[in-house]
Order: sequence, then C-alpha cells, then structure tokens
Amino acid sequence: MVLPLVPLPSSVVERPGALVLAPSARIVADDTADAAASVLADVIAQRTGSRPEIVTGSARPGDFVLHRRAGTDDEATDDESYTVRIGDDVRIEGSATGLFYGIQTVRQLLTSEGDGWMLPHVEIDDAPRFEYRGVMLDVARTFFDVETVKAYIERASSLKFNRLHLHLTDDQGWRLQIDSRPLLTENGSATAVLGRPGGFYTKDDFREIVRYASAHHMIVVPEIDLPGHTHAIGLAHPEIMEAPVMNDALLAQAAELGQPLPIAGEPYLGWGVGHSSVKIHDEHTWEFLRDVLSEVADLTPGPYLHVGGDEALGTAPADFNAFIEQVTALVAGLGKTPMTWHEAGSALVAEGTIGQYWGSVAPSAAHAAEARRFTERGGGLVMSPSDTAYLDQKYDADFTVGLDWASLINLKTAYDWEPTAIIDDLSDDAILGVEAPLWSETIASLADIDQLFFPRAAALAETGWSRADSHDWASFQSRIASLDAVWDAAQWGGHRPTEIAWSNR
Ligand code: ACM
Repeated sequence: MVLPLVPLPSSVVERPGALVLAPSARIVADDTADAAASVLADVIAQRTGSRPEIVTGSARPGDFVLHRRAGTDDEATDDESYTVRIGDDVRIEGSATGLFYGIQTVRQLLTSEGDGWMLPHVEIDDAPRFEYRGVMLDVARTFFDVETVKAYIERASSLKFNRLHLHLTDDQGWRLQIDSRPLLTENGSATAVLGRPGGFYTKDDFREIVRYASAHHMIVVPEIDLPGHTHAIGLAHPEIMEAPVMNDALLAQAAELGQPLPIAGEPYLGWGVGHSSVKIHDEHTWEFLRDVLSEVADLTPGPYLHVGGDEALGTAPADFNAFIEQVTALVAGLGKTPMTWHEAGSALVAEGTIGQYWGSVAPSAAHAAEARRFTERGGGLVMSPSDTAYLDQKYDADFTVGLDWASLINLKTAYDWEPTAIIDDLSDDAILGVEAPLWSETIASLADIDQLFFPRAAALAETGWSRADSHDWASFQSRIASLDAVWDAAQWGGHRPTEIAWSNR
C-alpha cells in the first residue's frame, strides 16, 4: 500500500498491521508539548468526530504520545525534523515545530475503516530538504481580511509550508497602517482591482496575523513593492510619484480587457503593470521610505523584508539600479534581510539580499544573470518560476478563475520541476527554497483561493520539503489521492482534477 503522505517524508518504513483507533485513546503530553497536544486533539476531532482527552503521565496501548525534544527550539535555527512511530501506540517526537509537522503527517495517515479509524504501523523519520518553503498571498489587488489570511495559514501549514509572504502594496491599494504616514491607508486603501472593496490591516491586525502564523510555524515576509507597483502611494503622497508611464503593453492590455488607464491621483482599478514609479532621486522619497520601512521592520519579528523590484518598466535601468542599491542597503541597515524579485539582481544589491526568481523554468540569459547576482552578493535564491509555481495561473484554458500569461499549469506541471536545475553554475547551497505565489486579479473569496491552491500547493510543498531523489509523479499521483479526505474534513474546497483517482477515506 502506498501511504497517503504529501509531502513525502525522508524515510518511511512500513510494518505489517495497523492500529485501530480506540474510543478510549488519549493524548499523553507533558506541559512542554501542550500546544501540540491541542493541535493533535483538533486534528483527530476534525477527522474522526471525537476529541481525545489530553493527559499527562504514562501511556496506555492505543494512546498518542507527544515527546518534545529539549533544546531544539531556538527560533532562528528551528529544528523542523520529527519522528513518528505507530505500533501499539502512536509516538511523535520533535521540537515544537517538529511536533506540529509530525501531527500533520498523522492527520494524513488516519484512514476510515468501516465505522472506525485506523493508522498503519510505520516508522517515519523526516526533515525538510529546503529551509524556505513559502506561499504568497496578494492582498493588494484584492484585499483579504484577517480571517481569510488565517484560513490561508491553516491550509499552507498543513502542507508544511513555513513562510507566508504578504504582498501588501501595489498600484491598486496600500494595505498596512503606517503611523507616520496615515494618508497611505486613509486615501490609498479604499478600493481594489475591478472596483472591489478595499481595506487594510491595522498594526494590531498585522500582529494577529504574525501571531497566528507563528502558532502554525510560519514566518511572515512583508512586501512593500518598490519602486514600481506604487500608484496607490500617489493617492496619499503625490509629491513623491512620477507621472504614470504608458507603455505599449499597458495600452494594448487595457484595450483588450476594457480596463481604464492609470490617472495620477485617482484609484487604479485595472491590472496593467509597469506604469508607476516613486521619484528615485528625490530626498522626500527617501524620507518616506525610511519612515515606512522602519515601521514595517519594527512590526515584523521575522528576518525578512521584501521590497519588490519587479516590473519597473518605465524606469531607466541606471535609475532602477541606483534605487535598488539604496533601498536594499536601507533594509539591511534596519537589521532585516532584504528580499526582492529577481530583476533587482541587475543592481549591486546589499550583501545577503535574497532574490526571488519568477522567470520561466527555461530562463533567458538576462534573467539567469540577474538571479546569479544574489549568490555573488552572498544571498540566496527562492524559486517561484511563474510557469510552474504561480498558483494564480489557470489549470486549463476553461478554468473559471486565474490568468494564463505565464502558462497553463495543471497538477503535473506544478509538480514536474526541480528548483536547482533552472539557473546554471550555482553552488549547492544557493537555492534556499521555493515559494508559490497567489496573485489576486481574478479571485475575490476564500472559495476562489481554494480553487487555485488545492491541489497544486501540495505539489509545490513536496518540491520544497521532500528529497530530490524521491520526486516521482506516479508516486505523487497515488499519494495525493487520499488528501481529498483530509481537505474535506477541514471543509477546504478546491479543484479535484480528473488526472487523480481521488479517494475520500
Ligand atoms: C511578478 O509576478 N511581477 C513578480
């Protein structure tokens, strides 16, 4: 039997037999594992309909036993490894994070059997391949409230993703309270793409997202997109904005989609790109950026601060490079690791800057050179190829949500790529991991998010977590089939493409 595990653990040794879940099964955990105990109780209740009691003391046959390893919970070097042993009882061992991941594994192993539930006898030893396993949500083009972001965290963390990148600002809206610049949210957050309702996160909202992410072992990566994708700043601070630049692609796209062209000082409701830029050589811009980025850095406990750098199409290359050099140095000076989209690799980025590659799996020479620059500057790369990892692209031409400018991405395409095989001539440690971005031009609800997220996020989760030598489409196809039952129990919708023989046990 193929065990229904995604992402596939590093070592799975099956033993004959199975543990039948007894109604009397308890969760045995001392107080160092009480957070994990309540996650496990919730997971078992969600799948089986009955919530086990949490106790301390010695275990009885049939119990779930959580053992938190001592000394492994340094936040910066979090040990994500764990073990699961299922025989006469179920034993999960790890750091706080490892226990959380072990529980997600047990969640997938629970299988309904007649009226009851069973778990196969197995020994699992697991640890991730990559340290950075991200998902992104674009809350700028369409605003998603805190509850929706929490729902996204629940979905992603169940697949062992550990980074939540929030695309907080774009032409269509500014979504984060900045005390020193209150006009940003007063004037710049009221609308969204296609005239959808706007919104923004207060600082307390943002802290609550960070707290919830942390409880799910995810680090929040805030993005303030610069120097382009900044039309919304002009609703608040027109003095630091260049006039919109109309390029041919923008004009053609606006005509094709029947969307308006950007007008300085008015909300932009279309989704064309490349028309906006802050003034790069103006001291007021830099005062603004120091104010904004220091508040974002102060609000963010995680190590990263993403400053965009993509699609500054109306900006002269020399100006763009000067901007990127200065803004990444500013972020580094605030004590954060700068992150940018890969175009910023044309510039002398601050040492240690992480590049997020979003070109094709078959990169142009220029994109590859830009990506390589981050490693030359002592940073690394997070791989988000737009033709395999972009969750906003449609599965097929008829899909009712999503775009298709990068590629149609069915489940096999989302699965069939190798992050280290895209940019030549990199050292083994240059790739920090992968991220699956979800842009929000065409999505307006959690149900829409689910349509694009499930099941492709599971393919990307496996690429980020599992060993390269275990990557196998046929095996993945059979393992993912049973996740339908896990997602159903959690009331997570989504797409169920016919290339998988979905099973609801
Ligand atoms: C991007 O898709 N503009 C990063």
